[in-house]
Amino acid sequence: MAKIRTIFKCTECGVMAPKWQGKCDECGAWNSFIEEMPSATSFFTRTAGVNHTPAATVRALNEIGNEEDRRRLLKLGELSRVLGGGLVDGSVTLIGGEPGIGKSTLLLQLCAEMATTQSPVYYISGEESPRQINLRALRLGINTHHIYVVSQTNVNACLALLKEKTPSLVVVDSVQTIFAPEIDSAPGSVSQVRECAIRLMNYAKESDVPVFLSGHVNKEGLVAGPRVLEHVVDTVLYLEGEKFNSFRILRAAKNRFGSISEVGIFTMSERGLQEVSNPSSIFIGEHEEENEGSCVVPLLEGTRPLLVELQALVSPTIFGLPRRVTTGFDTARLVMLASVIARRAFLKLGDKDIIACSAGGIKVGEPASDLAMVIAIASSAKALPVKPKLVAIGEVGLSGEIRPIVDLERRLKEACRLGFKRAIVPERGLKDIKVSFGDMQVLPVSTVKQAISLGLGRNNTAAE
Ligand code: TYD
Ligand code: MG
Repeated sequence: MAKIRTIFKCTECGVMAPKWQGKCDECGAWNSFIEEMPSATSFFTRTAGVNHTPAATVRALNEIGNEEDRRRLLKLGELSRVLGGGLVDGSVTLIGGEPGIGKSTLLLQLCAEMATTQSPVYYISGEESPRQINLRALRLGINTHHIYVVSQTNVNACLALLKEKTPSLVVVDSVQTIFAPEIDSAPGSVSQVRECAIRLMNYAKESDVPVFLSGHVNKEGLVAGPRVLEHVVDTVLYLEGEKFNSFRILRAAKNRFGSISEVGIFTMSERGLQEVSNPSSIFIGEHEEENEGSCVVPLLEGTRPLLVELQALVSPTIFGLPRRVTTGFDTARLVMLASVIARRAFLKLGDKDIIACSAGGIKVGEPASDLAMVIAIASSAKALPVKPKLVAIGEVGLSGEIRPIVDLERRLKEACRLGFKRAIVPERGLKDIKVSFGDMQVLPVSTVKQAISLGLGRNNTAAE
């Protein structure tokens, strides 16, 4: 079979080279060469067996069926939600994530579900042997005859097999291990990954079978191979989480069939990934007691409120410069908040170390979490407890003002549902809210100083 030689191209100046080079001779840039396929189009038409110009098909837009018709709700509700409300036939989804985070586990659970409702399912595995996959299936309690493991990594052979069958789902684990023999570079290289994905995409569109690909993320947090696939596939999901805790968050980075703001929350258990039934409360501790240096904030993940506990510890600097250390919270943001507290609430923090974190290590990116962090820091610095059953929400500005935030009502409803009794909120955002929140007291504030004074204290009255 004719081999297609790949060439390398400098991303800075566009010069071509037959071999990879660390430095470009033309423009002097380092590490700028990427692999390119010389004539992707001609190669593509050849492999598709097309040697004449095909007729273009035309359909009126309003006669084309709605994607919603082809959506299938999954029992794995969290996955369904992230996919935009179900699995669309003929869609290609890429699941990226660090090695060992649980991609294969999630995919096998999906296979088990699809194999019981529909049949059969093909699991193309280039990473693990059929025996290893079977061991995982036993661990997950999967016992179905309709999952077929294909231990073949030649994409042509896989497609030839699939074209003879009518699968309900095809899984490729992982996209970095399959290869097209016509391309003269190793599996996992940019041209291999892209070419294999394009062929699988064509297969999915022709046959209307949903295809899932898994792909590894490298150390820098970029998807080494799959990053180049983001524009090829329909949906890109990332499975995230810390190895040392059991929470796994599934996020959409791109979705042609739905919103990318939804997240799915799972825990990794003895029997695979379990959906979290009440996700809004998993990132908070028990708050019966008054506690120092911790405050809860109702965040929004997509359309779903998620209550997260933020903690801060302020202690004297032993030597050298005061340190600002964070886990799950942005360090630059913490530095900014510490300066605002020092200047606007007159708390001396210049000779103190501040350590801040979010419970469970969940990444908190919303500026709406500022106010809760301010209260946590002030509580620890003043050695005063945060009032029990309190949530705080609001963005903090440099002059110490509290800015309004979006969807305040939804966040407060969730806090109320979970039994919180006080909510410190931005005064400016409150005028649009018409509902009452049962016995939850809503305390509007306009400055950091006010918020600290309302949030701290041993009893229900504001402490100064
Ligand atoms: P895996 O799905 O193989 O990860 P990936 O495909 O992303 O590389 O998951 C591997 C990890 O998950 C491994 O450390 C063991 C753990 N695990 C459980 O905790 N419970 C389970 O039921 C399974 C199947 C795996
Ligand atoms: Mg795997």
